Amino acid sequence: MLENFIGRSPARWVTSVFSRRKLEDVFTPETPVADDKLFAGRERPRQLFEDAMRSKGAQVVIYGELGAGKTSLAESALSAMGWQYNRIQCEAISGEDELYRAILHRYGESRIVQETQSREQTMQGGLSTVVTASGTATDRSGIIRGPYASRPLTQDVVDVVGRSGIVCILDDFEKSVGNRDEMSRAASFLGKVAADFGNQYLRARFIVIGAADTALKLIPDPVSSRYREIHVPLMTREELTQIIQIGERQTGFRFQSDVVRRIVYISNGYPKFVHLLCLHAGRAAERRGRRQVVTDDLEEAIRDAVEVLRRQYEDAYHRAVRSNAGSRGFHRHVVHAMAGLEGERNTTEQIVEAVRRLTDDPQIKVNQLRNALYQLQNVDRAAVLKRYEDSVGVYGFRDLMFKAYVRLRCEQERGTVG
Ligand SMILES: Nc1ncnc2c1ncn2[C@@H]1O[C@H](COP(=O)(O)OP(=O)(O)OP(=O)(O)O)[C@@H](O)[C@H]1O
Ligand SMILES: [Mg+2]
Repeated sequence: MLENFIGRSPARWVTSVFSRRKLEDVFTPETPVADDKLFAGRERPRQLFEDAMRSKGAQVVIYGELGAGKTSLAESALSAMGWQYNRIQCEAISGEDELYRAILHRYGESRIVQETQSREQTMQGGLSTVVTASGTATDRSGIIRGPYASRPLTQDVVDVVGRSGIVCILDDFEKSVGNRDEMSRAASFLGKVAADFGNQYLRARFIVIGAADTALKLIPDPVSSRYREIHVPLMTREELTQIIQIGERQTGFRFQSDVVRRIVYISNGYPKFVHLLCLHAGRAAERRGRRQVVTDDLEEAIRDAVEVLRRQYEDAYHRAVRSNAGSRGFHRHVVHAMAGLEGERNTTEQIVEAVRRLTDDPQIKVNQLRNALYQLQNVDRAAVLKRYEDSVGVYGFRDLMFKAYVRLRCEQERGTVG
């Protein structure tokens, strides 16, 4: 009886109701996934990462597109393995010294930081000191002023990380400021020394994470490097769909298949967009007292998502699509048509074909679009497009997340028109 009413076994129904999580605990567009239960896809990079962690002394560099899910990969995998980690944001760090200090500080070793700082003050205070290559400081009389050198040494840092047993994540490494070469070298040294201590300290590990298209841009010198490179690409449609399915299981909400399809399409490989749209569509359904998420909820979510992302992208979008005298709205047509195409690179033929479909005007010719294609690469059109130099007549969006935003805007405009 009850079974007929709720459509499945009572036991499962009871468990699912009581283990339901809140939408905002499952869909987190602003923050990485650190709970393995919420982690979708990524079989290959995940396996490479775990292999590395199981290999003594192996260090890891994770690279890929901005927002692809790099931090989530490291955090979820480490959590699943039961390994603790400290995440250092490299955003404002400008060189080796600052990096080492930031790590030591984070690991609660302010003693080293303070001692080295006060030594520096003493030195600046008049004592003429010589810092040798090995890092030990001597004054004029030749007395070594140990135990810590005037700056924290690679070895001190590895020692602290190793003894703590807490893995060190150096995140947003590409955003470090100032001397990038020095930062890369420092990370390289840390990796080398940590690898050499691999037997003593099982968890003296450094995980460098950064948005870059090659690992070499983050950690150069592959020859002496102890880093294993792990690439995190944008997500496939299957992986994006999986995020929604996991969310359904965790929250008890159900997304209609057409809603799922549209969310996955708009997101263009970016998990952040899936989280954002699911969160807001789920909330819209909740406001209407439903757990079934339908098209109307998605329309509302699209408006909310545009609102959230507006600051970041609207100015560029507006500049790109605005019409000027005689342009017949071609800039807008090109941007919208290209947003609808799959793949990063699109040929002129594909673009013209897409514009014809969009405008329902089979007469449009390549020549009529050339101006728009050219101008959309200029700053006054926010340089939203780029032309691939290696082949003739191939174009793409400069920022693929912007492309997802255009998809979102198109869906929004379509929704208001239709
Ligand atoms: N495997 C995954 N499963 C579910 N959600 C994910 C997954 N990977 C990433 N996400 C979600 O995608 C968004 C971006 O993830 P994350 O912050 O890890 O990316 P990132 O590559 O580190 O970004 P950035 O380049 O900005 O540092 C977050 O909302 C996160 O919750
Ligand atoms: Mg990140």
